[in-house]
Amino acid sequence: MKVVSEFSAAQKSALAAIVGRERFSAGVSVRENHRHDISYHRGRPPAGVVWPLSTAEVAAILRWSYEEGVPVTPWGAGTSTEGNPVPAAGGLVMDFTRMNRILAIRPQDMQADVQPGVFRKTLNRRAGKHGLFFPPDPGADATIGGMIANNASGIQTVRYGATKDYVMRLTVVLPGGEIIHTGCLAPKSSSGYDLTRLFVGSEGTLGVVTEASLRLTGLPAHHLAATIGFPSLEKASQAVTALIVSGLEPAALELLTPNLIRLMNREKSLGLPEQPTLFCEFHGVSQATLGEIRQLTAELCQGYGAGELHFGMEEERRADLWRARHEAWETIHRAHPGRETLIVDAAVPISRYPEMVVFAQAQVDELRVVGYVFGHAGDGNLHVVMVGDPDRPGEWQALEEVNHRIVARAVEVGGTCTGEHGVGIGKRCFMRREHGASLELMRRIKELVDPRGLMNPGKIFPVEAPEDGGPQG
Ligand code: LAC
Ligand code: ZN
Repeated sequence: MKVVSEFSAAQKSALAAIVGRERFSAGVSVRENHRHDISYHRGRPPAGVVWPLSTAEVAAILRWSYEEGVPVTPWGAGTSTEGNPVPAAGGLVMDFTRMNRILAIRPQDMQADVQPGVFRKTLNRRAGKHGLFFPPDPGADATIGGMIANNASGIQTVRYGATKDYVMRLTVVLPGGEIIHTGCLAPKSSSGYDLTRLFVGSEGTLGVVTEASLRLTGLPAHHLAATIGFPSLEKASQAVTALIVSGLEPAALELLTPNLIRLMNREKSLGLPEQPTLFCEFHGVSQATLGEIRQLTAELCQGYGAGELHFGMEEERRADLWRARHEAWETIHRAHPGRETLIVDAAVPISRYPEMVVFAQAQVDELRVVGYVFGHAGDGNLHVVMVGDPDRPGEWQALEEVNHRIVARAVEVGGTCTGEHGVGIGKRCFMRREHGASLELMRRIKELVDPRGLMNPGKIFPVEAPEDGGPQG
């Protein structure tokens, strides 16, 4: 991996000539700000940062960077958690936050065309005026480009799917500057290789998305939110599996453990009993449908020992609960000032979720780490946010060991090392374990599209070749 720490005067002039002086910077603070996302992963400071506004500018930059042999790392909101947009080899960071126009919303087709720097919440405010929304919700106000790069998902994925399910057509600039379009605007297509989905989740390692046509969906007419408390983690997670199999189709189904509820209560005065709890939401066309769902959900959960059931709360309470859930990671951070977090993000088939949750909690307890187990339970997606100090190797190693054990078990039962946060730097070491020989095909695709290895280098692929990858940060 070729590292570029500084640009020559000629290189700086060339970049400034492409985008104009005010949209290129080699200033120290700008470079330092683009060296890390919200995780503990640290890259190398880039040699410079550029803010393109158009596909043509991106193409000119990638033509230039390819000729010069300069690594390029695309950047959205910087809200990733695995070091995904962090420049591992210095070079140029391409910051998309100024390329942020919503180009069109077509209510009749339920579609939107956007530039990559549009923030998710901005798109949803605009789409909402037409009774539509873009459902993938990673919590953070990520950019659409970042969400595409990462195939982001989150709280409503159990009902509405992940980003990949909403991307119809892409404009992509390939390494070297060639511009291509993938996909189409028809609701379905059987036309050849699905290149759109190759770019979704590729984390900027194959090229740069400069425009996306997205599918939107209708805003739900009625909501029913619930909090349901259980006597044990095992019972709560068994109820999750049963709820999914029942076909009741929750729009959100989140599991929280007592120590996380305690932090949320303390910070947000939620007044929830400190026990394993499901936060659920259902969406329906009428109150009558939701009434039936409520009845069936209550009966099902009571079969797993649920005692505290609160359904159909006021809008304000509902908003407070979901805000608290969205801010879980921040709440944990605030409760442990000066510490970093390592976030486990594994996913398993739903039938294996209960044993995974119990296994995860057991690892946290056994290795005595400070860790909070929760997750997008309806997706079989498990998180453990662990708190520690990366500068104390003994302490941090225990966190990595817990992560390693949980991921290894998830992959063993047919799951994945990352449900939604992507590979970035943090999950590279698990890729061989998860993908085996198909990782080599991914590598060949990478070499075909980016023969000089300049697009977001140091991501997705294991750097060394440990047999099955121990923790390697
Ligand atoms: C969440 C982040 C950690 O679910 O993905 O809160
Ligand atoms: Zn999550």
